[in-house]
Amino acid sequence: MSKVTPYNNTDNKKKQVTQMFDNIAKSYDFLNHSLSFGMDNIWRKIAIKKLTNNPASILDIATGTGDFAISASKYTKAKITGIDISQGMLDVGNEKIIKKGLSDRINLQLADSENLPFDDNSFDALTAGFGVRNFEDLNKGLCEMNRTLKSGGIVAILEPSEPANFPLKQFYNLYFHYILPFVGGIISKDKNAYAYLPDSVAAFPSKRYFLAELEKAGFKNCEHVPLTFGIVSLYIAIK
Ligand SMILES: C[S@@+](CC[C@H](N)C(=O)[O-])C[C@H]1O[C@@H](n2cnc3c(N)ncnc32)[C@H](O)[C@@H]1O
Repeated sequence: MSKVTPYNNTDNKKKQVTQMFDNIAKSYDFLNHSLSFGMDNIWRKIAIKKLTNNPASILDIATGTGDFAISASKYTKAKITGIDISQGMLDVGNEKIIKKGLSDRINLQLADSENLPFDDNSFDALTAGFGVRNFEDLNKGLCEMNRTLKSGGIVAILEPSEPANFPLKQFYNLYFHYILPFVGGIISKDKNAYAYLPDSVAAFPSKRYFLAELEKAGFKNCEHVPLTFGIVSLYIAIK
């Protein structure tokens, strides 16, 4: 997996990704919902519905502003822990959780997916929305996810992906490589962040490679589900 980073400086990827999400935290939700035409919440709902083991505890990896965790609180009865490396994103998430009266269901904390501060076999299910491709070390992050999941637990991972067929492929390229970076750059005031988005998606492993990475990290029954004509990939796996 080639290492695409948001800023062309000497800091490592993790530091640059943290800085980028701190920079765009305040405009992230607005841009996420509008640039995905509101589909992001539908993708999260479909993913949560795949957690068919009636989880009592869920860890939401790279929770950002907490939307996956909030969605999980709607469609499951679980207690949810969300972790992220960007305090700016977590601050926005915590405001929403307080406003929605979900503080007894969701707890957000600052932590690194590649070095999770939880015991082995802690959670019944794990979710990760649009975060995995930002990891500095993909294998380390996936192994940590496997370690903290209970045996028989389910993981649901969402990642953007490039559709393969005409004419969606051409429309997607125009939208994702030109319109989205332009609009995102202006509104978030961080041009690099929204240029990094298509670059990081292009650099992310193919479905086959990612499924193999999940297996390498110890998961089984690894499955890929294309959503919305393949512009998003949902990966489901079991420990
Ligand atoms: C595109 S946002 C996704 C947020 C949220 N999951 C959603 O569905 O909207 C990606 C998030 O991944 C976080 N992230 C990237 N690398 C991380 C790591 N190593 N550990 C924890 N969070 C990480 C970023 O800080 C950012 O908040």
